[in-house]
Amino acid sequence: MGILLALIAVLLFPLTSPAEVNWDTVSAKKVPLFYPGMTSWEFLTGSEHASGANAVSGLEKSCQDCHVKGDRVDIFADDIMKGKLRRKSREIPFEPEPPQGITPFITLELQAAYDATDFYLRLKWPSPKGVSFKNPADVSRGFYDRVAVQLNGNLRSFSRAGCFMSCHDDVSYMPDAPSEEEVMANPFYAKQRRKDVRLYAYVTRNRGWSDLKSEKEMDKYLKAGAIIDLWIAGFRGPEVISSDESIFYDRIRDSTKDIKVEGTWQEGFYTVTIKRKLTTLDPMDIQMQEGKTFTAGIAVYDQKNGYRKHHVSFPLSIAIGGGKADLTALKIIEGKQQVK
Ligand code: HEC
Repeated sequence: MGILLALIAVLLFPLTSPAEVNWDTVSAKKVPLFYPGMTSWEFLTGSEHASGANAVSGLEKSCQDCHVKGDRVDIFADDIMKGKLRRKSREIPFEPEPPQGITPFITLELQAAYDATDFYLRLKWPSPKGVSFKNPADVSRGFYDRVAVQLNGNLRSFSRAGCFMSCHDDVSYMPDAPSEEEVMANPFYAKQRRKDVRLYAYVTRNRGWSDLKSEKEMDKYLKAGAIIDLWIAGFRGPEVISSDESIFYDRIRDSTKDIKVEGTWQEGFYTVTIKRKLTTLDPMDIQMQEGKTFTAGIAVYDQKNGYRKHHVSFPLSIAIGGGKADLTALKIIEGKQQVK
């Protein structure tokens, strides 16, 4: 009887918290991140991007095919961050307001695991000062040090370009952002009483932020699994703040929060673990299953920065179990040494 009860307990509560995965046994992938400034989809697919333009718009190559040499990102992120590098045809710098106190490149350590019911992701990245962890009182404009992970398992564009497919010259804090009045006058945004243009997948627009494709067309994409899931975890003091959002025709908060997050700052590094059911009932969530591969794009905000002032990764594939990918999630079997 005792054994039976224990078995039922294991089945009902396989692992309750992400911290219970013994991460020492899960291999870590070093993911390089760089400071992009105003590296928008329009830049990437236009003449300013030289021979990169056709490769990106035709979804022929991934960013890393041209911009990674060994484990080094080959991009002038230092000149971008200092405000030195300019977007040629537009005569504007990639970054008109150089941020203080951060470096052009950082390396994030990524680990992934799963069991019968859940998926676990652990991210560790450098933040020498841990500013919003140490000083929650002064979280200016609501920004705190945080990590954001975009995930998608179906779009070829996302697997090639990652987060860059939803960053545009006309979203907030980018060079062509429309005025609040213009946004409010647009029927789509007016319906939601919105004044700002947030991230949107380029496939949802005919031309520019205001010209949305028909709902019928967007539904077709959504049915094919086009939603980009977005998990965010940050620090207001030692308290971990998280949100479960999604991006497609707009960046929105999901109606149900399906992620469970823990984290801390120690000796110059933030660590965050995210746990989510492999499958959920929310149509705005990515759905996972053993044997499948999906793509992730990661962004890190330090020094309480917001909007475009972040480090970003190129797209990175994660396999749940088998499959060829940049990172393979380790299968955790109850009662085995992987679980603490
Ligand atoms: C076919 C190769 C190719 C691909 C694929 C490619 N790029 Fe580029 N990229 C280039 C070249 C070449 C330049 C230099 C353009 C110039 O200034 O003449 C460049 C320039 C840049 C720059 C300006 C800074 C710098 O170092 O010159 C950024 C930022 C950038 N690319 C980001 C990306 C991102 C993000 C992706 C993926 C969505 C991507 N690129 C895909 C070839 C590529």
